[in-house]
Amino acid sequence: DGRARVLADGNEIPLLALGVWQVPDGPECEDSVRWALEAGYRHIDTAQAYGNEASVGRALRDSGVAREDVFITTKFYPGSKDPEAEAQRSLERLGVDAVDLYIVHWPQGGPTWAWEGMQRAQRSGYARSIGISNFSASEVDELLKVAEVAPVVNQVQFSPFEFRRDLLTACEARGLALEAYSPLGTGRHLRDPQVAEIADRLNRTPAQVLIRWALQRGLIVLPKSTHRERIEQNAQVFDFELTSADVEALDGLDATGGTDRALEQPWW
Ligand code: A2P
Repeated sequence: DGRARVLADGNEIPLLALGVWQVPDGPECEDSVRWALEAGYRHIDTAQAYGNEASVGRALRDSGVAREDVFITTKFYPGSKDPEAEAQRSLERLGVDAVDLYIVHWPQGGPTWAWEGMQRAQRSGYARSIGISNFSASEVDELLKVAEVAPVVNQVQFSPFEFRRDLLTACEARGLALEAYSPLGTGRHLRDPQVAEIADRLNRTPAQVLIRWALQRGLIVLPKSTHRERIEQNAQVFDFELTSADVEALDGLDATGGTDRALEQPWW
């Protein structure tokens, strides 16, 4: 129904997720995740590095939504030793038997460094799908040369202003779905006059326009908010469409030159 897609390994993934980067462990995170589940989100994106997996797990249990109806992503913190052992710790914190998706958070140590352990984590049943984050197209290719099980997603910063068109094309051509984190530019892009003009014309909000752009560009999209009304607003994106002219106008906001790099400046 346009709300989910099938990954290259056959697993289905909901296209809209709540991202919980920088949401502290505790009531703020629990409330956000529970509100999201109540608003119809069926995909939550967390990470070992965020330190809030326990809150995500508690909110999932409190929500009353069945575990099998929610897609849970967490990410391996590449500083730590073994992806399989760290997956087990994530599962304990989350209080689940397996995550739906387990991602290498960034290519520290090189693009192949963590992959053997990621494959082991999947074989052990700790993760249904495995993927990567913050990988450039050439890093994806390096990994694909040695991978027995190919990654099925690459999660990168992505928005009209960070429209890495070549990275998107390369990932899709290699069977990786692209996931957009910071689709609102961590809030900065909501103030852009061109985004606001489109939003006003459609009687929508800038956040909804940016999320809709990501969906129409074929991305899985992970907006973050800790406010209930914004969490709800960000989910109201399946009942309208941008025209191709508006999509192209938004494409034109790109400041990256369409690069195949994951980031201009790695922060790690
Ligand atoms: P808050 O969490 O206080 O609601 P991104 O997803 O690109 O990382 O952007 C997240 C930022 O955008 C957060 O600061 C969040 O604030 C803000 N935000 C998220 N959704 C909305 C919205 N619908 N309207 C206004 N601000 C929003």
